[in-house]
Amino acid sequence: MSLLEIEGVSKSFGPVNVLHGVDLTVDRGEVVGLVGDNGAGKSTLMKLVTGMYTADAGAISLDGTPILGLPPGERRRMGIEMIYQDLALARQQDVAANIFLGREPTRSILGMRFVDRAAMKRDAQAMIDRLGARLPAINRPVGSFSGGQQQSVAIARALTFEPKIVIMDEPTAALAVREVQGVLDLIRQLKADGIGVILISHRLNDVLSVTDRIVVLNHGRAAANLTTTNTDMAEVVSAIVGGGDMAEAAAHEARG
Ligand SMILES: Nc1ncnc2c1ncn2[C@@H]1O[C@H](COP(=O)(O)OP(=O)(O)OP(=O)(O)O)[C@@H](O)[C@H]1O
Ligand SMILES: [Mg+2]
Repeated sequence: MSLLEIEGVSKSFGPVNVLHGVDLTVDRGEVVGLVGDNGAGKSTLMKLVTGMYTADAGAISLDGTPILGLPPGERRRMGIEMIYQDLALARQQDVAANIFLGREPTRSILGMRFVDRAAMKRDAQAMIDRLGARLPAINRPVGSFSGGQQQSVAIARALTFEPKIVIMDEPTAALAVREVQGVLDLIRQLKADGIGVILISHRLNDVLSVTDRIVVLNHGRAAANLTTTNTDMAEVVSAIVGGGDMAEAAAHEARG
């Protein structure tokens, strides 16, 4: 039994069929790359895993427990964390507030519950330190941070609650070279800790360097399931463009 099992999942938005019977599995300590052209359905598939969207058909289980009937908060408590493409940070709030957004630790005073700001700050700083992230100041609104710094906050938020699986949607798209290496190192660390990782990225060199397996989505279908050590850029690109001509493949690679 895999950590995460997606079987025959389909999804339409109105008349538009976005996913057609997609299968995907992730084991403990396995890093799976999820790649495909713009609009292939990658983010949609992952939002079915988190519960942000409702699947039309199919089954998804975590550790053998079916999760499609469960609300997003329950799936999160079970250990599913996703770092969204658009980050979804509260730009006006500081680092600690973002890390604990909606899950603030509380303490009881005279029988009433209060948000424990001191605990939040302490735990937020500890996670930022553990990630080795460089932030200008932990108490500044995150909207004033660079793209890479905001990404670090989003990753810190995902890891604070000890997830079993972390889904990263384009975590390196906005980052400078050094920051990209930091995120890739972090993925390797998650793998070593036995956490399953799904990495969505158009940066195929990153995907080839950090994953164990690569699943290619092509127009909402799983077009390839490749073992990273047995594949190469040309094979991945060809599965992404799905038999398109070489000019298109080259153009895609140049974009990626
Ligand atoms: N909430 C929505 N309502 C309607 N259509 C949607 C919605 N979300 C996604 N889609 C459509 O589903 C298709 C797949 O979108 P999705 O965001 O999953 O693609 P993607 O593979 O993540 O692409 P990208 O690499 O550009 O992020 C697209 O045609 C998109 O327009
Ligand atoms: Mg997407």
